[in-house]
Amino acid sequence: MDKEFKSYLKSEAKRVDRALRGCLPTARTRPPTIHEAMRYSIFAGGKRLRPILCLAACEAADGDTENALAPAAAVECIHTYSLIHDDLPCMDDDDLRRGMPTSHKKFGEGVAVLAGDALLTVAFEILAQTPVTKRYSCADYVKELAVTSGSRHLIGGQVMDLEGEGADVSLTLKQLEYIHLSKTAALLTSSLRLGGMVANATPKKLEALTVFGRSVGLAFQVIDDILDVTQSSEKLGKSAGKDLAVDKSTYPALLGIEKSRALAGQLTAQALLALKPLGKKAQRLEQLAGYLLARDY
Ligand code: IPE
Ligand code: IPE
Ligand code: MG
Ligand code: MG
Ligand code: MG
Repeated sequence: MDKEFKSYLKSEAKRVDRALRGCLPTARTRPPTIHEAMRYSIFAGGKRLRPILCLAACEAADGDTENALAPAAAVECIHTYSLIHDDLPCMDDDDLRRGMPTSHKKFGEGVAVLAGDALLTVAFEILAQTPVTKRYSCADYVKELAVTSGSRHLIGGQVMDLEGEGADVSLTLKQLEYIHLSKTAALLTSSLRLGGMVANATPKKLEALTVFGRSVGLAFQVIDDILDVTQSSEKLGKSAGKDLAVDKSTYPALLGIEKSRALAGQLTAQALLALKPLGKKAQRLEQLAGYLLARDY
């Protein structure tokens, strides 16, 4: 990876961490267990891709990225909550996340469920601190994140993902695309859109970010499916080989690894085309799309 881009990723992740530290209750806040659990998962070492996309979209729409720190922190809270619940025994039943024991392994199932609930809720408290612009109100921000996190997108995708387990279920490629768009691409897209909204993006620019997000978000989950097959748990910081073990419908399961890789490449190319209306300011988004495709964890 280009050295300059690597240091950009690192410094943006640090900015996001600082913002998160500033807006989450301290670990000593009463009752400490829940606040420790929230901070444990948030600061376990995620890649911070959604918040970084939010900041980069703000830059691409010619905004001040300081204003995008609140929505960036909010989308990371939603994402982390979704991971805590995704790992529960009643869902993917995973012991390892971000290189550490999962929330329920460390704190027990009750507190893990509640830590997820609390992160989902605090996300909206944080989002409400986002400065409004001429075109977008606080209600617009809230609606954006609520619709994406709800039963028609993230939750709906997770439900269909669960229903798609088991050797007797065989999903079509169209159904699998729908799941991946819902459970993963929707939040990546909203991360970008919120960055654009806080930059007062024109409808045309917001649409460009939306189209970019759909393609890059779908590619992201295709790559996640591939990495589950090709990488070690150590490298991923989460248990590899899980999808195969429960006969989950994934892109590699339906298409094979090579065709899945080719598809992720095509989706990324489509995503890059969508950036045209944003001009030169979209350079970081362009680099991020390349990085998401080439990532190995
Ligand atoms: C993992 O997301 C879950 C998916 C939606 C595929 P990431 O790969 O972004 O996980 P972290 O945030 O870096 O842990
Ligand atoms: C997770 O998909 C999607 C959400 C958490 C919404 P996965 O179940 O594939 O994610 P990993 O592989 O456990 O990170
Ligand atoms: Mg899952
Ligand atoms: Mg999982
Ligand atoms: Mg996965």
